[in-house]
Amino acid sequence: MKNTTEKFGATPHQPSLWTRADALKVRADDPTTTQPLVRADFPVLNNDVFIWDTMPLRDLDGNVTSVDGWSVIFTLTADRHPNDPQYLDEDGNYDILRDWNDRHGRAKMYYWFSRTGKNWEFGGRVMAEGVSPTAREWAGTPILLNDRGEVDLYYTAVTPGATIVKVRGRVVTTEHGVSMVGFEKVKPLFEADGNMYQTEAQNAFWGFRDPWPFRDPKDGKLYMLFEGNVAGERGSHKVGEAEIGDVPPGYEDVGNSRYQTACVGIAVARDADGDDWEMLPPLLTAVGVNDQTERPHFVFQDGKYYLFTISHTFTYADGVTGPDGVYGFVADSLFGPYVPLNGSGLVLGNPSSQPFQTYSHYVMPNGLVTSFIDSVPTDETGTQIRVGGTEAPTVGMKIKGQQTFVVAEYDYGYIPPMLDVTLK
Ligand code: FRU
Repeated sequence: MKNTTEKFGATPHQPSLWTRADALKVRADDPTTTQPLVRADFPVLNNDVFIWDTMPLRDLDGNVTSVDGWSVIFTLTADRHPNDPQYLDEDGNYDILRDWNDRHGRAKMYYWFSRTGKNWEFGGRVMAEGVSPTAREWAGTPILLNDRGEVDLYYTAVTPGATIVKVRGRVVTTEHGVSMVGFEKVKPLFEADGNMYQTEAQNAFWGFRDPWPFRDPKDGKLYMLFEGNVAGERGSHKVGEAEIGDVPPGYEDVGNSRYQTACVGIAVARDADGDDWEMLPPLLTAVGVNDQTERPHFVFQDGKYYLFTISHTFTYADGVTGPDGVYGFVADSLFGPYVPLNGSGLVLGNPSSQPFQTYSHYVMPNGLVTSFIDSVPTDETGTQIRVGGTEAPTVGMKIKGQQTFVVAEYDYGYIPPMLDVTLK
């Protein structure tokens, strides 16, 4: 297997590399890139369901959009099972942690609405049971297309396989609330190809998901970001000079880091509606650094492309580490080159005293960052935890050049609209 630079040699752009040297600069607990502590007495949005990845309704330019004054979010959602014998421990108590950890297998897309951009009211499932072709409805993006309320929901249909799909429906408002209608025909768009993006056959732990369509502010064309791994059989990737970067003496040993092969993928639409897509080489690769760059998304600011993606401590390669949280990179043009924000890439991580407090951060163009609560310790030693499955406090962040700064904290699940569309 060739290294990352050789592999994409003949293609129109070279992926930018998040190197091991960059990642060595990650500093957990730097207050400018650390999420404030989430208190263990957080409120729960809804006690019947767990929610995690949160997807605000937006337009193709990235603006979070309300309709007729109603804010709308989509969330990955799973029922809680407090009375199911399967989730009771030996003493007959509800093992909420096991239930929570099993949620990915039964993830479904739900929606919520609000007049205030918080205190979300339960809407329900977006697609009826049986509409989505696979067991799991994984993350994606709801796009408000026009003032008729048409919505394209891009998401990932998982198990069997992992296919980027879309389904069209409509948002309907009344004085009393919001409903989603349609969403009846799911259209498969594409899967990993094995040449640029790793397939399940090449690696049972492959990632291919989380579509984020957008209109490039400069060329006006329709593109889509997604999470992938660099193609090739598991274990065959090379972590060479380019992937290592400029490291100090004693840091050349890459251990087993060839197993970590995350990338941020990009595709371009061949048509105006986004029904026909061509995958392009990744924008960014993290071979030898990290195995997951999830839910990639952009903020377009000051003529620059701010690329954000979430990642975990447990997906880092040998010899490098960092907190669960959101990482970022910036470029002057869509295809790069991208450089890590804050030198390391770390933008907003969990504090080391509460390493799992939040995840799945989504940076909005107004600098607000939403995420969900995973688990928060309830005692000094961290052995007792409270499981979240609900919205975390929103964090306010300033993005300046190649740096970011935490500057504010807001209410739980605060996702205010950036513009309102009056439906015709
Ligand atoms: C992020 C994530 C996404 C995926 C979903 C599965 O939290 O791992 O990448 O779509 O959750 O539940």
